[in-house]
Formats: sequence, C-alpha cells, structure tokens
Amino acid sequence: MSFTVAIDGPAAAGKGTISKAVAAHFGFAHLDTGLLYRAVGRKTLGLETLSETTAAQLAAELTPTDLERDDLRTVEVAQAASRVAALPAVRQELLAFQRAFSKRPMGAVLDGRDIGTVICPDADVKLFVTASDEIRARRRYEELKNKGGRDSLAHVMAALKQRDANDAARDVAPMEQAADAILLDTTNMVIDVAVQSAISVIKKRM
Ligand code: C5P
Repeated sequence: MSFTVAIDGPAAAGKGTISKAVAAHFGFAHLDTGLLYRAVGRKTLGLETLSETTAAQLAAELTPTDLERDDLRTVEVAQAASRVAALPAVRQELLAFQRAFSKRPMGAVLDGRDIGTVICPDADVKLFVTASDEIRARRRYEELKNKGGRDSLAHVMAALKQRDANDAARDVAPMEQAADAILLDTTNMVIDVAVQSAISVIKKRM
C-alpha cells in the first residue's frame, strides 16, 4: 500500500528542506518535481526560438543524469523552468513519471506547485508551504551566495516575485493551494520546527 504526501508552495518557502526531512523520517521516496522543469528549462537556454513542440520533445527526452546536474539551481535556469512550465505539452510529458513515482510502495513525497491539485489529487496528505516574500528572498539569496552566486538580494527578490506571479497566473496547473491542503506558514519558524510540524500533521493521517 502506498502513502503519498503532496507538498506545494511558492519558491524558497521551505518545501525542499521539509520534503527531504519528511521522506527521511518516514522512509519515503522523495521527488523534487521542480527539477524536472529546471532540467527542461536548462536545455532551452540559448535557443533563439522555442516552440511548445520542441520544449515537449526536450521533456520527453529527459534522462536521470539531466536531473543530477549541479547547474540547475541558478536564477536563470529557474526563470527558464517557469517559462517551459507554462506550456501544457511539457506538463503532459512529465505527468506519467510523477504519477508513477507517487505510487511507490515504500511511500512518496512529491514537492512542486501542482502536486495536490493535478498530479496527486488523492494524496493522503497535502501541505501548502508558504513564507513572506522577504523571508523567501533572503533564504534563497543566502543559499545562492553559499554556492558562490553573485546575485544581489534585490535581484533574487525580483526574480522570485516574478516567477511566483507567472506560476500563479498561468492557465495550466497554476500554483494554488488545494482545497484540502493544510497551510504551513514558515515565516517565523526555524526549519526544525517547520519539519516537526509537517511530520506531526502526516502522523495524524497515517
Ligand atoms: O521548485 P522550483 O523552484 O525548483 O521550480 C522551478 C519552476 O518549475 C517553478 O517556478 C515552476 O514554474 C515549475 N514547477 C511547476 N510545477 C511543479 C514544480 C515546478 O510548474 N510541480
């Protein structure tokens, strides 16, 4: 019997850290679905024109190695990811893989933007993780800086806000809180507290 946890929310709200910790705690498999869109987005950098068909083809051709690259976390790739993520044919290509992952017998945690709404509408637990714009921008800025990034806080904040606005406004699978998702606002939480609170919500549903 599988058990599925869906974690959605805007960029840098803490989804990734919470998902990893929850998966480790319960022994579940974890899929960061943003990596799929980042990997497709990265392949479109430098292309002069981009048709939906080409982008969908790139999505169809993704390999596990494409997801392991260490250059997927840049601001530029995130923006490219958000562009390809608005294309229905790209989302369609990536759907089956994500659904199959969610049914892993060991249990699965998937984090993204449309997990609770589109990919796993029947997930056992749905969380929508948010935090204030300022906190999210600062967290992402520190993260990028630690990896040697040189983007200013203002640039990181502007890029984050723009991406969230695009992700929330698109026609297909927009980022939104599922009606049955539990809201977890991590603005004033240190990460351990956020993780513990996610774990206790999940335990109650098991
Ligand atoms: O989560 P992350 O910031 O890595 O995601 C990068 C981009 O991929 C998002 O801004 C969004 O446009 C897209 N995405 C999506 N649906 C998901 C996960 C990510 O549209 N389930």
